[in-house]
Amino acid sequence: MSDPVATLTRLLQPVFDELVESDAGVGNESADPTVRPSDRADAQINGALPLAKRLGTNPRELAQRVIDSGVLADVAEGVEVAGPGFINVTFSSEFLASELDVVRSADGLGIEPDSREMQVVVDYSAPNVAKEMHVGHLRSTAIGDSLVRMLEAHGHRVTRENHVGDWGTPFGMLIEHLLDLGETEAAEALSLGDLNSFYKDARVAFDASDEFQERSRQRVVLLQAGDPETMRLWEILVDLSAAYFNTVYRKMGVLLTDDDLAGESRYQPLMPDVIERLRAAGLVEESDGADVVFPPGFENRDGDPLPLIVQKGTGGFNYATSDLACIIDRTERIGADLILYVVDAGQSQHFQMVFAVAKMAGWLDDETDAVHVPFGIVLGTDRKRLKTRSGEPVRLVALLDEAVARAEAAVAEKNPDLEPDVRADVARSIGIGAVKYADLSTDRIKDYVFDFDRMLAFEGNTGPYLQYAHARICSIFRREGVDRASVRAASIELVEPQEPALARQILAFPTAVDAALETYSPHKLCTYVYDLATAFSSFYEHCRIKGSPEPIYSSRLALADLTARVLERSLGLLGIDAPEQM
Ligand code: ARG
Repeated sequence: MSDPVATLTRLLQPVFDELVESDAGVGNESADPTVRPSDRADAQINGALPLAKRLGTNPRELAQRVIDSGVLADVAEGVEVAGPGFINVTFSSEFLASELDVVRSADGLGIEPDSREMQVVVDYSAPNVAKEMHVGHLRSTAIGDSLVRMLEAHGHRVTRENHVGDWGTPFGMLIEHLLDLGETEAAEALSLGDLNSFYKDARVAFDASDEFQERSRQRVVLLQAGDPETMRLWEILVDLSAAYFNTVYRKMGVLLTDDDLAGESRYQPLMPDVIERLRAAGLVEESDGADVVFPPGFENRDGDPLPLIVQKGTGGFNYATSDLACIIDRTERIGADLILYVVDAGQSQHFQMVFAVAKMAGWLDDETDAVHVPFGIVLGTDRKRLKTRSGEPVRLVALLDEAVARAEAAVAEKNPDLEPDVRADVARSIGIGAVKYADLSTDRIKDYVFDFDRMLAFEGNTGPYLQYAHARICSIFRREGVDRASVRAASIELVEPQEPALARQILAFPTAVDAALETYSPHKLCTYVYDLATAFSSFYEHCRIKGSPEPIYSSRLALADLTARVLERSLGLLGIDAPEQM
C-alpha cells in the first residue's frame, strides 16, 4: 500500500537507523519508526519510545532529535512532541499534493499488490438447482463478488466457486415431476425462470401420492448409481437452472460464469475417500448407527458432545461430508491458502464443525485457513424476514426488476433529455447499484431492512448518491469543455481548507480497502466512498472552479478528476457501475 503514512515511514527510517548506529552499545537491530494514522493530527510517530528504552535515554528528548533532524520539514505543517514521547504530525499542503502526484500516476490509485500473493477460493452465491434465488443469495452474491474484486486488486489469485445445491434426495422428486410434466413442458417452465412453482408442484405431487413418493425414492437410488437416463434428466434440471442463474448474474453484473460452477454433485465421487481418510486418522466413531466425528468444544443443549455426521446409518453422505470433500479439493487440487465461505449466519455451526474436523484430519492447518464470512437476514419494512404478501420468499429477480423500473422513472424525471437507450443503461446501473449498495453498506453481520425508497434516494449514504457524485464531476468537465485526461499532469495546489481535506480523503483510499479486506467487510469501503463524496461536495461548494485564474483552475479540475477516478474505482470494487451521466 502506498499512502502518506507509508511515505513518512520511508522518510523516517534512515533517521532511526542513524540513531541506532550512533550508539554502539545497542547492537545494530533496526528500529521501526512506527508511524500510525492519528485522530488528533494526521499521523503519530511512536517509534521514539521503544528506541529510547533501548538507548537508555529520555524519550521526549529522542523525539526532539528526530524532529531536529529536519526530515519532517517538508512533510509537516505542525509537529509536536506529545505525552511520554510521541510525535504528532499534521501534514503540509505541499506534502499532501506530492502524495496526490504519486497516487494519480499509479494505476492502483494507491492500492498495491500484497507482499504475499495468496491463492484464495471464494465460495459464494450458491443457489439451489430448481429453486428460486432469494434475498439470501443476493447477500452472498453481492458480498462475495465485492470480496473477489478487492482480493484481486491486492494481487491475489482468486478462484470463484459457486457451490450450487445440485444433489441430494429432493432430486428424486424433481426428476419424477419433470417426467410427469413432460420434458418439453418442464423445460419451458424452467427456462421462464418459474422455479418456485416447479419446485412447489413437485412437492405437492410428492405429498399427495404414495406412488410418486416410491418412484422418487427409486429415482434417488438410480441417481446415486449414476444411471445414464437418470443422469440425463438430472442434467436437464441442472442446465436449465444454471442458465437461469446466469440471467440473474448478468442482470446483477457479477463476475460469476459457468466456469465457476462447483456444485455439491462434483464432490460425490470424493466422499468415500473422505470417510476412509477420517477412519485412517482414527477420528470416526459410531453414534446412533451413523458414522460421526466429535470435534472438541461442540456441545448440544444438554451439554453432551455434538457429533458431525459424516455418513448416515443408511450409508448416504450428507452436506457436511460434501463440504469436507470440498475442503480437500480446494486445498489439495487448487492449492488454496485461504478459503472464504460467504454464507448466511444460520450455517455458522455447520462451518465451525466442518472446519474443526478438517483441522483434526490435517486438511486445514496454519498454512491454509478457512473462514466463514457470515451475514444477517434481509428484513421487510415490517422488520420481519422479507416475504411476499402471500408469505412466500421474495424472488430476487422481482426485486432487481423493480429497482431498475423505479430507477428508470426517477431518471426520466430528473434528466428527461437522456437518449432512451442511454436512459435504460443508466437506470440499470442505478437500480442494481442501489440494491447492491444497500446490501453492502451495512455491517454484513447485521440484518437490514430492504426499503426501495431509501436505497433509491439521491441523498444520504446510498448507491445513487455516490453514482451521482461521480456523474456530477463528469458533467463539470463536459460543461467546461475540458478533457479529463488533459488535467492529469496539472500541478495541484491545496489552498482553501476544503482542498487538503479532500486530498486526505483521496489518500485514505488504500487504507480503506485494507480495512475492508482485513475483516471481509465491504461496508468499510462504503463508508469511505460516502466520506469521499461528502468531502468533494464541500470542496465543490467552497472552491470555485468556473472562471478561477490559473493555476487554481487546472489544479481544482485535477482534484475533481482524481476524486472521480477514486469514486469509480471504489464503486468498481463494490461491483457497482459509475455512469458518466444520470
Ligand atoms: N446451497 C447452500 C444454500 O443455499 C449454500 C452453500 C454454501 N457453500 C458451501 N460450501 N456449503 O444454503
